Amino acid sequence: MLSWAIRLEGRALWTENADPGTATYGESLRRFGGIEFRRWDPSRSKLGAGIMRTRRDKSLLLPKEGSTVLYLGAGHGTSISHLHDHLCGEDNDLGGRIIAVDLAPRCLRDLLHLAKTRPGLVPVLGDARKHSAWGVLLPRKVDWLFQDVAQSGQVEIFIDASRRFLSVDGTGLLSLKAASERWTGEGEDALFAKVEMQLSKSGFVVEECIELTGYEDNHVLFVTRRVE
Ligand SMILES: C[S@@+](CC[C@H](N)C(=O)[O-])C[C@H]1O[C@@H](n2cnc3c(N)ncnc32)[C@H](O)[C@@H]1O
Repeated sequence: MLSWAIRLEGRALWTENADPGTATYGESLRRFGGIEFRRWDPSRSKLGAGIMRTRRDKSLLLPKEGSTVLYLGAGHGTSISHLHDHLCGEDNDLGGRIIAVDLAPRCLRDLLHLAKTRPGLVPVLGDARKHSAWGVLLPRKVDWLFQDVAQSGQVEIFIDASRRFLSVDGTGLLSLKAASERWTGEGEDALFAKVEMQLSKSGFVVEECIELTGYEDNHVLFVTRRVE
C-alpha cells in the first residue's frame, strides 16, 4: 500500500473508491479483500504517471490524508477523483479538502457533478493567475499544491501561486508541458533544465524531475519543496 487508500498491484495502481459502485471516467472497479478499488490510469493522469515513474518513495508525491490542498488546472477531475479517494475517503471521513481551480466552464460542470458524491471537493471556476477571485477559500497556507494548467507562463503561475498559498517546507508539484512554452529553439532538455534553474532561484528545492514520456509525451513533473 502507498497510503491507506492507494495500492500497487504489479504495475497497476488502485485507489479505494470513496463513491462505491461508481467509475468516474470509465476505469475498472475491482475488489481487494471485499473492498472496492478503482484503477488509476497513469496515461490519463500526470499525478498517477508521476507516482508510477518516481525513483523515490512513491508516497513522497502524496499529500497527508485529511489535509487541505490546492489543485490548479483541475480539468474534468480524473486525477482529482483519485486524490479525493486518498485525501478524503467515503463521506469525507478524513476531513480533507481539495480546492480545485479551472477556468473552463465545461470542466467545472464535471467537477460539480463529482463533488455531489465526494464531499471535501471544492470546485472553483477561476483563473490560476487571479488569486484575488478565489484566494479567500484558503485562509491558511497548504502543505501540498499541484499545478497542471498546460498554458504558457506555467512556471511563473506556479511560483506566484506557491508564494501565496504553499507553506515553507510544503510540496509543490508542477506538471510542465514543453509545447505550451514559447519555443526558443533550444530543445526540450534545455528548456526543462532552464525551468529547474528558475525554480531553484525562486525559493524552491527541486527534489526530482520526473520524465512522463510514455504516459504523457513532452511532459516533466517537477517535484519541489518550498524553502523560502
Ligand atoms: C491538462 S488539463 C488538466 C488535467 C487534470 N490535471 C487531470 O490530470 O485530470 C489542463 C487544464 O488547465 C486548465 N487551465 C488552463 N489555464 C488555466 C488557468 N490560467 N487557470 C486555471 N485553469 C487553467 C484548462 O482549462 C484545463 O482543464
